[in-house]
Amino acid sequence: MASPYEILGVDPDADEDEVSDAYRELVKEVHPDQGGSTEEFRAIQRAYERIQSGYQPGDEIRPAGTATARTQTAAADEEQEAEQTEPEGVKVEFLNYEAMESHGWQLTDDDLFEKAATDELGGEAYGYFYVEENETLLEAAEDEGYAWPFACRGGACTNCAVAIVDGEMPSPASHILPKELHDRGIRLSCIAAPTTDAKIVYNVKHLPAIRDLLLPASRFEQTSSTD
Ligand code: FES
Repeated sequence: MASPYEILGVDPDADEDEVSDAYRELVKEVHPDQGGSTEEFRAIQRAYERIQSGYQPGDEIRPAGTATARTQTAAADEEQEAEQTEPEGVKVEFLNYEAMESHGWQLTDDDLFEKAATDELGGEAYGYFYVEENETLLEAAEDEGYAWPFACRGGACTNCAVAIVDGEMPSPASHILPKELHDRGIRLSCIAAPTTDAKIVYNVKHLPAIRDLLLPASRFEQTSSTD
């Protein structure tokens, strides 16, 4: 079985930045929105997570679900340690627009996130993560293993649009969003990040007002695979 370093295409002695850069390039290339396969995307996520959780060259690689009692104990200890460590950055609670729609909920519902929290959605539909300084919201989501939509990664297409339900998320000066949408709390996750704890609905590219601004992901394939 290939090592996590081999899957990411980096040397075993690569530093954190090199691993992170390689991971971000690969998830861009194999993202399901860009025509990649979900299996390949997940394999790259797992490789990155293994390196992040302390994998060393020479460590045994076991298929998912075959951890020994010792490694399970070590994992439980690490989990407990992680829980005791104060996370860095601002907390983002997220909800997938498609899950919101399928439940008949609205962006304007006062109790939108309370309903999401009590509905046991989980997975890609609902959850939270932390955004560290100098990260965009999209980068932070990808670092957590989520496949949020994107295309240009440069503020030019709206595929990565999110809606801020609570919190602050300033936009850089240059982006494609009309003022009216910006005033309604729509932001581009590829070029911005919350500056406070926030509640965010992602995948809002299906909102009619945003759909009109969408440019096809294929238009950015060259950029996405080489930038
Ligand atoms: S991915 Fe195109 S604006 Fe964010």
